[in-house]
Amino acid sequence: MKSSVIGLGLESSCDETAVAVVEDGRLIRSNIISSQIDLHREYYGVVPEIASRAHLEAINPLIDRALDAAGVGFGDLDYVAATNRPGLVGSLLIALQSAKVISYAMDIPLMAVNHLEAHLYTPFLEGNELAYPFIGLLVSGGNTALYHVRGTGDMELIGRTADDAAGEAFDKIAKYMDLGYPGGPVIERLARSAARGGVLFPKILPDPGDFRFSYSGIKTAVINHLKKHPDAVRAEVAYGFQERVLEIMVRRIFAAAREREVRRMVVAGGVAANGRLRELLAEEKRPDETVIMPSPALCTDNAAMVAGIGYHYFLTGRSDDRSVDVHARV
Ligand code: KG4
Repeated sequence: MKSSVIGLGLESSCDETAVAVVEDGRLIRSNIISSQIDLHREYYGVVPEIASRAHLEAINPLIDRALDAAGVGFGDLDYVAATNRPGLVGSLLIALQSAKVISYAMDIPLMAVNHLEAHLYTPFLEGNELAYPFIGLLVSGGNTALYHVRGTGDMELIGRTADDAAGEAFDKIAKYMDLGYPGGPVIERLARSAARGGVLFPKILPDPGDFRFSYSGIKTAVINHLKKHPDAVRAEVAYGFQERVLEIMVRRIFAAAREREVRRMVVAGGVAANGRLRELLAEEKRPDETVIMPSPALCTDNAAMVAGIGYHYFLTGRSDDRSVDVHARV
């Protein structure tokens, strides 16, 4: 009898086409990612039509490469998982349709996975033991959301952004400052070079019990500052902006965890790669609290997280009908 469970994960919700093979929900046998950043760079954001065409061209060769790299064939797969929500509908369809075909041809279960739940699973691919409950903060280019996660598929939304996603705010300010795309890594680097600290932008006042996020105010403050002070030291502007953007995340996640008496927290998504965010979380953390984060390599979109969370659905015997559809929102 086969002792391990082999899952194939497929991801195409935004601008990365990704395929991975994961064993027992923990061991990444292969994790191949094809980024479309170069195709979208000149537009400073993801163009949906370009994205879905690029996914279509990339997916089949990537599936072959991922299986080869893992040393397995289609016949070794126990299940196939694909992201079906949230994301760009035309893009999501590429991975989900491919997964349906594999599920049908190989007669294996299909798992349609919530991209946000998959992101929050990433630290559990790196040796951390999956245990519920935890407060999960997902911060990426398309999403900023805070969850109380009680079990697989059991996520209560506590708060989300009222306007921009955190990564989107980084990208828009980087665009305004002509720093390039994606904005997060460049702003982080520039902020680190600020010799005298940063510009003090208005503080967001804490509202007890309010777990919403908002980034339009700080964005406007930065743009107004740059208009008024065209000679402002750019590193200091970047530093001040980044502090305010990260501060609200740190405050919200700890406030939610303490209010709900949950001591484990998970922070994931592209913005979780930010080193300053990691410093601020470590400063705020009390000894009896744990903050679990994926390594920067697993912060951005990948399919190992899709196969990983898919394994836990597989264990519980929950799979999806092949008529399952894609959804732009969760
Ligand atoms: O998870 P991801 O690939 O998802 C989406 O595309 O939604 O995240 C990409 C986002 C971009 O907005 C990017 O600017 C941001 O994550 N990002 C960062 C950093 N690295 C990537 N934001 C802040 N600091 C970083 N080091």
